[in-house]
Amino acid sequence: MKKEKQIKKFDKQVKMYENKRANQKFAALRNKLIKNAYGNVLEVGVGAGANFSYYDRNNVEITGVDFSSKMIKSAKREASNFQMKAEFIQEDIDELILEPNSFDTIVSTLSLCSYPDPIATLSKFSSWCRGDGIILLMEHGLSSNPLLSFTQKVIDPLHTKFSGCHCNRNIDKIIEESCLQVDQIERYWADIIYLIRAKPTK
Ligand SMILES: C[S@@+](CC[C@H](N)C(=O)[O-])C[C@H]1O[C@@H](n2cnc3c(N)ncnc32)[C@H](O)[C@@H]1O
Repeated sequence: MKKEKQIKKFDKQVKMYENKRANQKFAALRNKLIKNAYGNVLEVGVGAGANFSYYDRNNVEITGVDFSSKMIKSAKREASNFQMKAEFIQEDIDELILEPNSFDTIVSTLSLCSYPDPIATLSKFSSWCRGDGIILLMEHGLSSNPLLSFTQKVIDPLHTKFSGCHCNRNIDKIIEESCLQVDQIERYWADIIYLIRAKPTK
């Protein structure tokens, strides 16, 4: 899918992402993941700022990245609601250039599904993260249930057309082929949702 088309798709979904911020199904998982964030935090695919209420705001300074101007605007409002120290960059992750080793924590939630080359994106995360830093991911991918994964594969073209993201990513394979050193992986909801804590490779 062309980038401009994908950006428009996410621009149009901003209200939905604002409404989903309070989604109780994700609340416990976001809390479990985000409480590990500290220091200079890079949150990629920041969306409408759904993670902001879970950060320890006295312990983090956020740089939020998203290619959708509407999402960035919404995330800015949410950051000010929580009085977060935050700045934002509107940029495509594939074009984004940042200093290596400049963040203590890299966060990505429900976003790896949208990137054309998720392994290359994880390699960028690794380079931007300090050697003793942490990479925190909450992602969705193929279920371990054969019927569900079959359905995910069948509906993926339609899913991508309407939402701008894939529902059939093999997260196990992506993580295995990436340069991340995994500390912990937990899976939820028929193994569709992954919580991952990892370290960069230096
Ligand atoms: C599925 S939403 C997830 C939003 C948020 N992280 C959450 O947990 O609710 C994916 C976000 O990533 C952004 N995104 C997708 N592809 C991107 C890219 N190539 N570069 C920058 N942002 C991107 C979208 O605009 C959207 O805000």
